[in-house]
Amino acid sequence: MKTRVGFIFDLDGVIVDTAKYHFLAWKKLANSLGIDFTETQNEQLKGVSRVKSLEKILSWGNLQLSEDKFMELMGKKNADYLSYISKMSSSEILPNVPKILNYLVDNKIPVALGSASKNAKAILTKVGLFNKFQTIVDGNSVTKAKPDPEVFLVAAEKLRVQPKNCVVFEDSLAGIQAANSAGMLSIGIGDSKVLSNADYVFKDFTEISFNFINQIIEKELSAS
Ligand code: BG6
Ligand code: MG
Repeated sequence: MKTRVGFIFDLDGVIVDTAKYHFLAWKKLANSLGIDFTETQNEQLKGVSRVKSLEKILSWGNLQLSEDKFMELMGKKNADYLSYISKMSSSEILPNVPKILNYLVDNKIPVALGSASKNAKAILTKVGLFNKFQTIVDGNSVTKAKPDPEVFLVAAEKLRVQPKNCVVFEDSLAGIQAANSAGMLSIGIGDSKVLSNADYVFKDFTEISFNFINQIIEKELSAS
């Protein structure tokens, strides 16, 4: 089989600016329970599943709840989050993302989504990017949350690309750890201080050129 390079995109905070909506919804919920919720704490929830996020928030507040109450709060947070999502449009796609996605698709380079979100398909449809992805692996298709590499390994398998030939775009610490554990090239999107474990970090996609994409493809191919 010919060696190919695959690209896997995280969704929240990489393709669309939904990280701010997760933050607002979790903050409202945490504060309603009398728990403080800072931007630093929020950083630890990025890339992390809904269940694990609520577990962390409750542990910060030293709160233990019944399973019913836990499920009720998960539902509340998601309803609040979905009220933001329902107003979203393509204007909330992060800068230059369509340009890079189109470049990959036009050059027949395999592209997957690798997200912890159970709302991924709805969001991609809402912003008109659903058909750019050859495969979508989301919170409904995996059992282990990032930093476990499962989501990216499943995406590689679906793309029929070896993990070592995959490149991951991620905005979260947990996601960079997951990509590194999967043996993939990790590209952080955001703050280089936060994402210091990534192989490369860019503030956003406006800093990523076609030239850079071509170079990493060459590099991945020559290493395999
Ligand atoms: C990740 C986000 O992409 O998805 C997390 O970074 C979020 O903040 C997780 O908790 C799960 O998302 P959802 O939409 O299923 O609640
Ligand atoms: Mg993210």
